[in-house]
Amino acid sequence: MTDARQVVVDVADRLREAGVPSAAADARWIVGHVLGASPAGLAFAGPVDADELAAIDAAVARRGRREPLQHILGTAPFGDLDLAVGPGVFVPRPETEVMAQFAIGLLRDLARPAVVIDACSGSGALAIALACHAPAEVVAIESSTDALPWLERNVADQRPRFAARGSSVTVVAGDVLDPASWQSSPADLVVSNPPYIPDDCVPRDPEVRDHDPAVALFGGPDGFALVRPLIGRASVALRPGGVLLLEHGDDQGEPEGVPALIRADGSFHDVVDHPDWSGRPRFTSAVRR
Ligand SMILES: C[S@@+](CC[C@H](N)C(=O)[O-])C[C@H]1O[C@@H](n2cnc3c(N)ncnc32)[C@H](O)[C@@H]1O
Repeated sequence: MTDARQVVVDVADRLREAGVPSAAADARWIVGHVLGASPAGLAFAGPVDADELAAIDAAVARRGRREPLQHILGTAPFGDLDLAVGPGVFVPRPETEVMAQFAIGLLRDLARPAVVIDACSGSGALAIALACHAPAEVVAIESSTDALPWLERNVADQRPRFAARGSSVTVVAGDVLDPASWQSSPADLVVSNPPYIPDDCVPRDPEVRDHDPAVALFGGPDGFALVRPLIGRASVALRPGGVLLLEHGDDQGEPEGVPALIRADGSFHDVVDHPDWSGRPRFTSAVRR
């Protein structure tokens, strides 16, 4: 039997030696995960037995090889949701929570259940968060056959919660560039966190580079290969007065990035760019004429 606090200290040292940037926090998550405790709950954890030590060892070895913490835990937080994630699906990011929060504000201002399309849904983070926090009929479009099982699973897991809100989430297995995927026109809101990294900007972090699916990250030579036609599709799907929310890279805001692409489409007014938690440009809102 080993003291849990000592195990956390040893795990943090091993992760630091392996070059893991968030070693101390990850150590608490990993040990807590194996002991069935939250990082805070570890304060009251009993001694760690041999089987638990072996499981912790295995998890530390994976994290040391820079597997994402979320894959090891099997879940990723998105606001107040815990979503199932693993190989084949993009891990939802805190940056996207800001766009979700903005979208929830819009939906709550409508006096009726909203029709919402989440284009490029991945784990379903945006679709499910919106459905859980405001009454909405959400369509979640995703083309990747690796991501779709995660999306279906998260929708099923969270159904009791969003159904209690009077919401629904319908998964569409399809390409966002195919008009047939956009079943719910006219929509009140289109949200999307599409692949937007230029092909030659390979991420440095192994967790992203080696574990997020390429189809979730890369958007052609300038990053906008999917974004450009997606703006056109959204303009067809939205009702007049409906809103488009589009996430982008922190170097794709004003003056030449996504806001400019949306203005160039000609179908929108009130094109406004918004920052994320750290104040960097992160998503654009626009109102359909
Ligand atoms: C950056 S991830 C975003 C996932 C999720 N919305 C989020 O914010 O965490 C982009 C997603 O778009 C999907 N995708 C890429 N191209 C697509 C296309 N042409 N049609 C539908 N989905 C696509 C990818 O498989 C991936 O799941």
